[in-house]
Amino acid sequence: MLSTRFFSRTGAFSGCVMWLVITSHANFAPAAEPGDPVLSALHLTMSRRIGDARKWLDERDFKSLAQTAGGLRVLGGLLKARSDDESWQTATEAVLAAIGELSAAARAEDAAQCKAALDKLEQTAAAVQARQPTGQAQQALPASGGLRPLMLVMDGIRGDGKIDLLSGNVEDAKKSAYVLSELGRVVSNSVAGRPPDPKQWQESSAAFVEASLAAARSTEADAATMRQLLRNVSQRCDACHEMR
Ligand code: HEC
Repeated sequence: MLSTRFFSRTGAFSGCVMWLVITSHANFAPAAEPGDPVLSALHLTMSRRIGDARKWLDERDFKSLAQTAGGLRVLGGLLKARSDDESWQTATEAVLAAIGELSAAARAEDAAQCKAALDKLEQTAAAVQARQPTGQAQQALPASGGLRPLMLVMDGIRGDGKIDLLSGNVEDAKKSAYVLSELGRVVSNSVAGRPPDPKQWQESSAAFVEASLAAARSTEADAATMRQLLRNVSQRCDACHEMR
């Protein structure tokens, strides 16, 4: 029953163009270039999550802080994968190390350690932002912490996009869509060992990536049109959830 509904949905878009887009991206992993839109989108999203983390710390909400750290880890992984050059790898590993410290401090409910880790995270993230990667982008890996932190951070980013549109900020909403498209690739690689069957999972996550890229790459400057494009993205979230 559920899978019938799933197939009827996936049947609604035609595969050819989509697979071209996806596979060319996966196979030729382009060098991250100056002005790489994914990179600037990742920087924005990271800084927003760091802002969330500061807020949770102010409120002494360590549970939400730990959750935000989980999302930051996923984003830090994407940042690292933007380029294989050594200095980029070293700089982004420093970001991931700070996120690890934040996560541990949040679990220990140690406010002073959380603050120190957040300061370090801000510094290391700023250092990465000042760099231009020169190497090749790497393949997205499966989510290291499992699906849950991945899903929660996607939920937050979808929310960012909605808020951006409320204030008419179409360009930042596109950045959210770029990050969602990259996260969709991680989702696609994270099927291991869980139902539904891998083929459905691939199709469903590919459809999600495609909808996200359509929003991200849109030349529209109109908030109402962008809202519709983001709604199409949300439909792809729902379509996959309905398979469960
Ligand atoms: C390809 C499939 C797929 C796509 C696409 C997908 N999800 Fe999920 N989502 C899942 C699965 C599977 C779970 C259950 C994860 C678990 O419990 O380990 C889940 C769980 C969730 C949860 C609950 C997390 C929790 O445990 O509290 C949220 C929230 C969520 N997804 C949001 C989203 C949003 C937002 C999008 C789109 C922007 C999205 N998902 C796209 C498969 C998907």
